[in-house]
Amino acid sequence: MLMNRIETVVINNPVRRALQRWYEAPVLERLGGPLPVGARVLEIGCGPGYGARLLLEHFGAAQVDAVDLDPAMAARARRRLAPYRGRVRVGVADATDLRPLIPDDGVYDAVFDFGIIHHIPTWRNALDEVARVLKPGGTFYFEEVTKHALDRASYRLLFDHPAHDRFTDTDFLAELAAHGLAARGHRTIVFGDFVLGAAERTP
Ligand SMILES: C[S@@+](CC[C@H](N)C(=O)[O-])C[C@H]1O[C@@H](n2cnc3c(N)ncnc32)[C@H](O)[C@@H]1O
Repeated sequence: MLMNRIETVVINNPVRRALQRWYEAPVLERLGGPLPVGARVLEIGCGPGYGARLLLEHFGAAQVDAVDLDPAMAARARRRLAPYRGRVRVGVADATDLRPLIPDDGVYDAVFDFGIIHHIPTWRNALDEVARVLKPGGTFYFEEVTKHALDRASYRLLFDHPAHDRFTDTDFLAELAAHGLAARGHRTIVFGDFVLGAAERTP
């Protein structure tokens, strides 16, 4: 499900970028460890492309593929990432079916999810794809918004999200395990509203 106008403003905002740079990226790196040298990385739901920039600059990824369902977001990301041409590719794709862009299995050292899976009605299908495209031993880094947040009146009033079959932190971690993604570490914050963590693709 695409973002509404209010969420688009919230995401395309210096405060969001600061949070991503100074909180989310360091916590994810602490929980999942650094990327291997020469890492090939996928970001699902890249939005305006700031996360992909952090993957190149902060995490030191060698190559980043970034995808978003919304062509307007992919266009923004392409503009932001133009200085990194050669190390980054941006595409339009649905995280629940990446095969049109990424037909091969086991090709990425890491997959990043900066707050996108809670936007997907059939969110388990996105985890199928994360598990499919990760190399054995590769890492899934995630930052997600839980049912606790999405059930709040403020969230329901301001933003558009799928209403049914949302997940708590525990639900999300259990689903990762069911997809062969073994949690390395996680942190639940803001009264259970957000969960950040990293999980390893088991062979
Ligand atoms: C809350 S925004 C997060 C954007 C960016 N990752 C960030 O942290 O700033 C969610 C993004 O997921 C995208 N999205 C929603 N459903 C998607 C899907 N099924 N596949 C890929 N991207 C999706 C939206 O278009 C939006 O750009």
